[in-house]
Amino acid sequence: LEQQRDQWATKIGLILAMAGNAVGLGNFVRFPTQVAQNGGGAFMVPYFIALFFLGIPVMWVEWVAGRYGGKYGHGTLGPTYYLMSRESLKPRTALWFGVFAGMLAFALTVLLNSYYLHLIGWSAAYTYFSAAGSYFGQNTGEFFGNYLSNHGEVMLFWGITVILLAIAVGQGVSKGIERWVKVMMPLLYIFAILMVGYIFVLGSPVDPNWSTIDGFKFIWSPNWSYLGDHLWDVMLAATGQIFFTLSLGMGIIQNYASYLGPKDDVALSGIATVSLNEFAEVVLGGSIAIPLATAYFTRIVDADLIMKAFGSDPKTLMTLGVPQNVANSGNTTMISNYLSAHWSSILSALSQHKDIGLGAIGKTFGLGFSYVNLPNAFVSMGEAGRFFGALWFLLLWFAGFTSAIAMYNYLVALLEEDLNIKRSTGTWIVFILYFLMGLPVVYISGYMDQVDSWVSFQLTLLALVDIIVAVYLFKPDNFWKELHEGAWMKVPEWYKWVTLYIAPILLLLPLIGTFKSFVSGRIGVAPWTAILSMFLIGAIESYYAIKKKYGEELEKNEVIIKV
Ligand code: PHE
Ligand code: NA
Repeated sequence: LEQQRDQWATKIGLILAMAGNAVGLGNFVRFPTQVAQNGGGAFMVPYFIALFFLGIPVMWVEWVAGRYGGKYGHGTLGPTYYLMSRESLKPRTALWFGVFAGMLAFALTVLLNSYYLHLIGWSAAYTYFSAAGSYFGQNTGEFFGNYLSNHGEVMLFWGITVILLAIAVGQGVSKGIERWVKVMMPLLYIFAILMVGYIFVLGSPVDPNWSTIDGFKFIWSPNWSYLGDHLWDVMLAATGQIFFTLSLGMGIIQNYASYLGPKDDVALSGIATVSLNEFAEVVLGGSIAIPLATAYFTRIVDADLIMKAFGSDPKTLMTLGVPQNVANSGNTTMISNYLSAHWSSILSALSQHKDIGLGAIGKTFGLGFSYVNLPNAFVSMGEAGRFFGALWFLLLWFAGFTSAIAMYNYLVALLEEDLNIKRSTGTWIVFILYFLMGLPVVYISGYMDQVDSWVSFQLTLLALVDIIVAVYLFKPDNFWKELHEGAWMKVPEWYKWVTLYIAPILLLLPLIGTFKSFVSGRIGVAPWTAILSMFLIGAIESYYAIKKKYGEELEKNEVIIKV
């Protein structure tokens, strides 16, 4: 006898869970990084285009697919996409679409988590380090390096995080996940609003030449000439960010949507998810890290940072006062020694040339920046910095945690529904899997970046599969009808055409672009081993799950089970 499937208990719980799923490290770290590295305001134009023509349609596609799978008791992509493909294809052909989608989703979830969970663990550690003032009065670069090489400490904060995740997911969807996010998400927004409020009153805290306004200007003045010169790269970055931030192309939006009732709204709820994420990204995420970095520019910049940004750019070095023979030498030790020895004059040159300063932030912003340079801003705040530093990293921890819950639940649902393993047992199987897959992140340097570059390619690929299966093979009219089943809003008719034609074309661009970069960007043996073995397991699992439930109709190659 089949058990009644778990469902979201309340509308608000569902919306907060979906927002928690989408709002993650992507909003507060990855977004400012992408903006900074892609010409500031130049980035925002393709970003909004990708949001409206790609992000919103794919979000609807995933909600529709998820609720549809849930009707048949599936929260994983293998069986769900098998069922949707079956609308146009014979069962035995549809099987391969299910297997392919299920394989991608499984591999993505495991690979992404191998490092995403570590980043969340770092945030937990830095929440503690900030509150305790551990890195205050120290070289923050060395401090971070010491932390990372202390594997015991890294695993401790990872462990705390993942055990809490296991507890939340183990309690189930309505009794676990929903209750946790109902507390965590409102707090997350409150933390972020407090940070932004503080940043708005900050002004020029340490040097009259540098204020928060520089950061806001950097993000919000459209930089058309930069966009013209780097159109392709900026578009890739913008579409990639939209996928990452909205949690699309993973299978986890579908998984959460599978716990809807068959007549629960998806149209307005999908838009609500996008809106809550974009508020957290563009308004809140955009108003923290970059304005903070510019306000404390003279405290966070150091010879290392300038070296990283402009070490091989003699023209810029000379503008900062580095003599021609040194700047042109190509000898990094010599340049770096010069910078350190003449740091105060370099610093005043940087105040004269703010564009170079912003350029340095742009070129170096990223994970390292968040854990090495930003902490110097907190140090400069004195006692208040312990509070705001802890608040910032706790915010990151909450954001990452509520996204990780969704991915964790995908894997537990897979064990539970496809393989009949009890939720409580499944939770600990996933824990062990995560532990093993996270080890190379700690022990093999460069592993994380290589897996990450593969992951962004795969997200886009799976999003394309979404449209092919859940719109084309499922049939556009069925898709449109499903989207409006129980809907609280009417989606304008022309959006159907956006979904059918514009979104897939926009998707092909980053797909080709990231494919090129990832082929040229050598992936080592360890990441390939991880990727291919996850593919293998994911494919076998999906094949088995579909066969088990739909074996009879696959045998006959005729659709039997219809709801
Ligand atoms: N959307 C999450 C974020 O912005 C990250 C994420 C991506 C989570 C893909 C799951 C899957 O950080
Ligand atoms: Na996000």
